[in-house]
Amino acid sequence: MITQPQTEAPVSPVPAGDPTGQQVSWRHRHLLDVDALDTAEIERLLQSTAAMEEVLQRRVARTPALRGITVVTLFYEASTRTRASFELAGKILGADVINLSAKGSSVEKGESLIDTVRTIGAIGADIVVMRHPQAGAPYLAARHSTARIINAGDGTHAHPTQALLDAYTLQKALGDLQDKRICIVGDIKHSRVARSNLWTLTRLGATVTLVAPQSLLPPGLNQNHPLGLPAVRIDDDLDRALEDADAVIALRLQRERAAGVQVPSLREYARRYQITRERLGLARENAPVLHPGPLNEGVEISPDVARGLQSEIERQVQHGVAVRMAVLYLLARGGA
Ligand code: CP
Repeated sequence: MITQPQTEAPVSPVPAGDPTGQQVSWRHRHLLDVDALDTAEIERLLQSTAAMEEVLQRRVARTPALRGITVVTLFYEASTRTRASFELAGKILGADVINLSAKGSSVEKGESLIDTVRTIGAIGADIVVMRHPQAGAPYLAARHSTARIINAGDGTHAHPTQALLDAYTLQKALGDLQDKRICIVGDIKHSRVARSNLWTLTRLGATVTLVAPQSLLPPGLNQNHPLGLPAVRIDDDLDRALEDADAVIALRLQRERAAGVQVPSLREYARRYQITRERLGLARENAPVLHPGPLNEGVEISPDVARGLQSEIERQVQHGVAVRMAVLYLLARGGA
């Protein structure tokens, strides 16, 4: 088979006014969570994501926007979507991308996180995309790294690029999110996605309802100031919460974080909290269904909903590349 040579087209992957490869204005050196971003910055990232999506739709193999930039993905925890999409995003923008896992690296010989990020900085990394099982690990890395740090998920704390791609997917499905009712159901307690989504969606004006059994809600969460966010509602009755919901985000039951023992049985949990076709009928007509993945089909979501017409799950994955292109671009060229 004859393959076409890769082309390098001089396209601008960012909105008008941000010429490709030039410095743009972005005040954050790292992306550790969305709570550091104001509404205008979240909107700017989502606009840049739309511009990146146009680049992807033009099927240009690579752009030179991040030529000369080295991105290292450093994963201490498993990942398919986040890691692959950051790698692809970096390569499409012309960056050099190096992938490191804790397994097979000097971490196995006892190297500390601080030594690892210093070493990666010393070999010339400009950006480190990091996933770690400990909440707060990317913050520690940011204090000791010469490179910019992107949090690709830290323990149960935050997953900012997932929240941004979820917001982007919801905006494409629903338009402006102001006053939209978003129902997030599942293992809230262990979900970094839920936390980052709360910040992002409420900053964009949506009303969020968290739905879970008491055992899968974080301690200290209450109706008035859950996680410092006044616009959040809490319910343990999924059917009630789904009434008039504009969209549903189902979360994975994180059995690797012991969520499985915090419900009476998987069958009982699924009976009360699974998004089924019948239940989805309680929400607004054509309400989009999201799930960050990976899925426990038959537990938090039924297979027919996961692959049904209202499912946005594959589109979320597709949007993940564009949103990560936008994040890499703004951090690399942002001048902070
Ligand atoms: N949503 C998400 O973070 O998926 P991965 O664990 O596959 O990266």
